[in-house]
Amino acid sequence: MNRPIGIFDSGLGGLTVVSAVRDLLPHESIIYFGDTARVPYGPKSKEAVTGYARQIAAFLLSYDVKMIVIACNTASAYALKTLQKSVAVPVVGVIEPGARYAASISHSKRIGVIGTEGTIRSLSYTAAISRFDKRAEVFTRACPLFVPLVEEGWLDHPVTRLVAREYLSLFAHHNIDTLVLGCTHYPLLKPVIAKIVGKSVRLVDSAEATARQVSDILIENDIVSGRRQAGSYTFYSSDAPQKFQELGERFLGRPMSGVKKIIL
Ligand code: DGL
Repeated sequence: MNRPIGIFDSGLGGLTVVSAVRDLLPHESIIYFGDTARVPYGPKSKEAVTGYARQIAAFLLSYDVKMIVIACNTASAYALKTLQKSVAVPVVGVIEPGARYAASISHSKRIGVIGTEGTIRSLSYTAAISRFDKRAEVFTRACPLFVPLVEEGWLDHPVTRLVAREYLSLFAHHNIDTLVLGCTHYPLLKPVIAKIVGKSVRLVDSAEATARQVSDILIENDIVSGRRQAGSYTFYSSDAPQKFQELGERFLGRPMSGVKKIIL
């Protein structure tokens, strides 16, 4: 089925999911919406984020998408169930795939999760990891300064290293063997985070786990693209498309062009 997959995030971060989906499913077309006018979602209320998610889903459905990926942890935590109930195509978030993968690879069953305030407050990761493995003990930490640091491009900056050491210090006492990067921006900080938590802790990038789940859902629903050539990509942002494009290339890991502005 050659209809596109709709993917959205509060801004740029979800492009890490686009990149992972593209690597795994190169024949799929993607329509991406980044809500740059309303980013960040992390500190906002459940009601506000759910309202945004509904609007964006309606926008993506107007392009006849065959499934929707909520490529934002905060929106997944707050709005996944609402969208799954209210739209007629499969909807997947980034929390379940990341939680399932973390539960499957952790030997000690002591798992850390970092994310925005909203994601951590919602306890969604804790609940999802426990669903996949009842023995798991989950330790969480909100890291609100990581998003602006990444947006600033300070991926390996002394300030970022300092902030990361402060946030991550608690995990040293908990003896975790797995740390979930529960925010779309955090994969860009992998090298800094890995150095602080050490080699004995495996980092789980929800983007890759989500791409695998997208692939499973396409197969289960028999809606895999029949195309032989590479899929097409269309990017929309709700504000500052030029900046979105410039910074977006960092998240996507390759050049992008023609970002269109759309006000919902
Ligand atoms: N996309 C958000 C997330 O994954 C991070 C940025 C924001 O706070 O909006 O939770």
